[in-house]
Amino acid sequence: MLTTPTAAPTSSFTKTTVLNNGCVIPLVGLGTWKSEPGKVQQAVKEAIRLGYRHVDCAFCYHNEKEVGLALQECFAQGLCRREELFVTSKLWCDKHHPNDVRDALRNTLSDLQLDYLDMYLMHWPVAIKINWPESADDMIALDDLPIADTWKVMEECVDQGLTKGIGVSNFSIKKLEHLLASCRIPPAINQVERHPYLAQPDMMEHCARKNIHVTGYSPLGSLDRPAGLKGPDEVNLLTDPTVTSVANKHGISTAQVLLKWAVQTNASTIPKSIHPTRLAENLMVGRDDFPDLDQRDLEMLQSLDAHRRYVTGAFWALPGGPYTVENLWDE
Ligand SMILES: NC(=O)c1ccc[n+]([C@@H]2O[C@H](COP(=O)([O-])OP(=O)(O)OC[C@H]3O[C@@H](n4cnc5c(N)ncnc54)[C@H](OP(=O)(O)O)[C@@H]3O)[C@@H](O)[C@H]2O)c1
Repeated sequence: MLTTPTAAPTSSFTKTTVLNNGCVIPLVGLGTWKSEPGKVQQAVKEAIRLGYRHVDCAFCYHNEKEVGLALQECFAQGLCRREELFVTSKLWCDKHHPNDVRDALRNTLSDLQLDYLDMYLMHWPVAIKINWPESADDMIALDDLPIADTWKVMEECVDQGLTKGIGVSNFSIKKLEHLLASCRIPPAINQVERHPYLAQPDMMEHCARKNIHVTGYSPLGSLDRPAGLKGPDEVNLLTDPTVTSVANKHGISTAQVLLKWAVQTNASTIPKSIHPTRLAENLMVGRDDFPDLDQRDLEMLQSLDAHRRYVTGAFWALPGGPYTVENLWDE
């Protein structure tokens, strides 16, 4: 099942699902965090040539201009049409004030050279005063800048056609419930970290009941995270013995086991890569003819769940500030 890139497939290359706003999202998308300017443009172009139709972006990845250049090249070369793509971006935490939300989205649209997004997510349930906080003075408590106020303007962005859908990221069940109680447009997506070490069964069950789609980030364990975001006991998902044994059984790669698990358990998945062979390998799991994992495989992978996060959110827990790891995840 490992493969080298071939000719560009059609736009129906990957499995899709329908969101609560009626939009269709391909279940395998391309992550772009840490894809450096200078490399991301080629990676996005190659991904779209291979058949990716879902790209996950964010203002804070500092590469949306290059992603935009790649998208323009793809449109110009006829590799895909705008309406075939599902493009997500995210509101950064220093733009939660109602006066800032629309301009932040417009700025992202300008960088991506698009007229509209398919999905705009509130990146974190955290408000800050500057791009990256250094002390508690740079943080804003949610009591002082409530999520509902930010969300109201995100809803207006849908009304104005700036984005087709809105959603959230890194929201706990409690924060989702709070938002659902006050919103006019419910979030279509909660994008959270998800892989067999952090299977999030409660979140999956809750979101299924509320008709909110889950997109799982860092599905391969985010090995290329900056050292400052890594813990001392970092475990490599891609070499986990259980994942490896499932991979060997089916003759597929461990990355494909992880991504197939994600798709087969009703989430979309957004692995990041800048390498053509890996881009192709990762996309393959979204194909209709990619073999399902069997019940025994799923049980083995389920046994790995340790509620272990790679992206802990500890960077928001500055001494004396309003956020702690506990109140961030509500656990
Ligand atoms: N909402 C949020 O707060 C949030 C947080 C984190 C991530 N995200 C999104 O989720 C995306 C994915 O998460 P992530 O970037 O943290 O990590 P990830 O996708 O779990 O892992 C990326 C790493 O895996 C490598 N890789 C990719 N395909 C591989 C393969 N087939 N075999 C072996 N290694 C492979 C990549 O290397 P190469 O690039 O060198 O191939 C890179 O080092 C992000 O890019 C971003 O779009 C969102």
